[in-house]
Amino acid sequence: MALRRVLVILSLLPLLEAQNPEHANITGIPITNDTLSWLSGKWFYIGSALHNLVFKQAAQKIQAEYFYFTPNVTDDTILLQEYQTMEDRCVYNVSKLGVQRENGTISKLGEDGAVEFLAHLKVFKRHGGFLLAFAPQDEKNRGLSLYGRRLPDVSPELLEEFQKAVKSLGMKESEIIYTDWKKDMCSQQQEQSEQEKKTEEGS
Ligand SMILES: *[C@@H]1O[C@H](CO)[C@@H](O)[C@H](O)[C@H]1NC(C)=O
Ligand SMILES: *[C@@H]1O[C@H](CO)[C@@H](O)[C@H](O)[C@H]1NC(C)=O
Ligand SMILES: *[C@@H]1O[C@H](CO)[C@@H](O)[C@H](O)[C@H]1NC(C)=O
Ligand SMILES: *[C@@H]1O[C@H](CO)[C@@H](O)[C@H](O)[C@H]1NC(C)=O
Ligand SMILES: *[C@@H]1O[C@H](CO)[C@@H](O)[C@H](O)[C@H]1NC(C)=O
Repeated sequence: MALRRVLVILSLLPLLEAQNPEHANITGIPITNDTLSWLSGKWFYIGSALHNLVFKQAAQKIQAEYFYFTPNVTDDTILLQEYQTMEDRCVYNVSKLGVQRENGTISKLGEDGAVEFLAHLKVFKRHGGFLLAFAPQDEKNRGLSLYGRRLPDVSPELLEEFQKAVKSLGMKESEIIYTDWKKDMCSQQQEQSEQEKKTEEGS
């Protein structure tokens, strides 16, 4: 155990040294049980600024999105249930995320086991939101996404923190793509299917 810890710390050193001090606020914030239980529940995707073209094109298609996080503190995973509105239609997806506590990162593995994305988590507990930072050291691929507890009433402080973070990574506010909650097609659909389930169970 001790050896493993030393190895983990050693393997972190080059990363820490390479880190630009400006990124220190966003990366390397350890994830605790408290963080995980705070993350539990419903979230709305608010917007993102992305340099990676594949991510950016995917984000441009999302008109609105909300999702549920169900963390498991025993095996360090998060069940992700996503409701995305794309092309005026609701798309539902379930997947699992991995949590790297010491690194403060969340990862998603593809079907082939390759890392689909690795994101640094930064929470703004007071403002009811969090951000994910992708490849902050890589100018061509870096990105930031913002998530909040409430829509459409996002706290101005949360937006401000996000805009500050976007600028601190050398990106422009004008690069932020915001979702439009008026376009959401999933809420109603989810409600209906839950009602139907209840009716079925009742009959
Ligand atoms: C880092 O966080 C501190 C305190 O929250 C804040 O004052 C400062 O502006 C942040 N720096 C950057 C680059 O975001
Ligand atoms: C986190 O919670 C789990 C389950 O309650 C517990 O087994 C584990 O020891 C906790 N970890 C820390 C670092 O407190
Ligand atoms: C959490 O993960 C552990 C270990 O994989 C598993 O035994 C347990 O059933 C999971 N808990 C939930 C609520 O899924
Ligand atoms: C939803 O899941 C399917 C199957 O896993 C996948 O092919 C598709 O790309 C996913 N869609 C989104 C929007 O993530
Ligand atoms: C933390 O980051 C380092 C450097 O990228 C990596 O080698 C290590 O595997 C990561 N640790 C975990 C638990 O993912």
